[in-house]
Amino acid sequence: MKTIGIIYGGISTEHEVSIMSAKSVISNLNKEKYKIKELYINKYGKWFEIIDGKKEEIYNLIWVLKDLDIAFPVLHGIGGEDGTIQGMLEILGIPYVGCGVFASSVGMDKIYTKILFEKAEIPQTPYVYVKNIKDNYVIIDEKFDEEEFEIKKITDKIKFPMFVKASNSGSSVGVKKATNIEELKLAIENAGHYDNKILIEQGIDGKEVECAVLDVGEPIASTVGEIQSSEEFYSYDAKYNNSESKTIIPAKIENEQIEEIKRLAIKAFKTIDGRHLSRVDFFIEKETNKIYINEINTMPGFTQISMYPKLFEAVGIKYSELLDKLIENV
Ligand SMILES: Nc1ncnc2c1ncn2[C@@H]1O[C@H](COP(=O)(O)OP(=O)(O)O)[C@@H](O)[C@H]1O
Ligand SMILES: [Mg+2]
Repeated sequence: MKTIGIIYGGISTEHEVSIMSAKSVISNLNKEKYKIKELYINKYGKWFEIIDGKKEEIYNLIWVLKDLDIAFPVLHGIGGEDGTIQGMLEILGIPYVGCGVFASSVGMDKIYTKILFEKAEIPQTPYVYVKNIKDNYVIIDEKFDEEEFEIKKITDKIKFPMFVKASNSGSSVGVKKATNIEELKLAIENAGHYDNKILIEQGIDGKEVECAVLDVGEPIASTVGEIQSSEEFYSYDAKYNNSESKTIIPAKIENEQIEEIKRLAIKAFKTIDGRHLSRVDFFIEKETNKIYINEINTMPGFTQISMYPKLFEAVGIKYSELLDKLIENV
């Protein structure tokens, strides 16, 4: 019997989300097929093994990890979805579920994801890259040269409303909508608390849709799901604390658009050199019906009610079957 290490918790702002995802994964794993080791990382980065429901601190992490046949880092955000833990598992020679070091780290960084999507000509919203270098904001231009920071340079390039995001973050933490210059300044300041790389995007008024990719041989895309946020945008609260946020599967869009989104989702996955799984998020502009990619999540939410497993369930792949496929293909 194979020993699967489910690693969860973690130091990122998505700690609680990871706990929820991991609980679902653990309860859906076939216990007759796999021996499960639960490895919990607390918010300060300390590792514990859960033995008979009790947390026991791990003192020799390498020893514990070396005992695993396969690791499944059910971790979101920094320290889990950004290539760092993947790098550790690579060094230790432990096979693991999910994207490798490069795809994880690019996928986690919203600005560098955009740069790759640009190269792949996947449609996306116009943006400005701002960097905080030693407490001084600069604008990074197309050639990666630093330009003096001026609000006007941003408003010349993109229109309000804008979305200001910390480049390395997730679950909408550090994301603010700005409808005027004052809000823009505050939003930049806010994003700066989470990362020194700041992405400012033109806002899209329209639908938010998501597509799941599973790669166990050749990448396949699920159908497309639609998010109906309970709040003005899909903020952390709207995602996890507001039961009025809804997911509609399949999205109420034309078939042609579903096919186009599936194609773009696979293209995005390949563009970042993805492996095993990712969820790719898009906007469909109300006025023009145009599709824009928003982001790729290399370790999407994995609770029973999360979009990723629900999208595959809608095309006939059950949650536990999905887990089997992922694990068997490591
Ligand atoms: N360019 C945009 N236009 C409209 N809404 C946006 C835009 N960017 C982000 N949002 C809103 O903010 C939410 C969080 O932004 P996102 O980039 O997906 O960050 P996260 O990685 O934290 O999920 C999105 O789900 C969407 O509701
Ligand atoms: Mg998102």
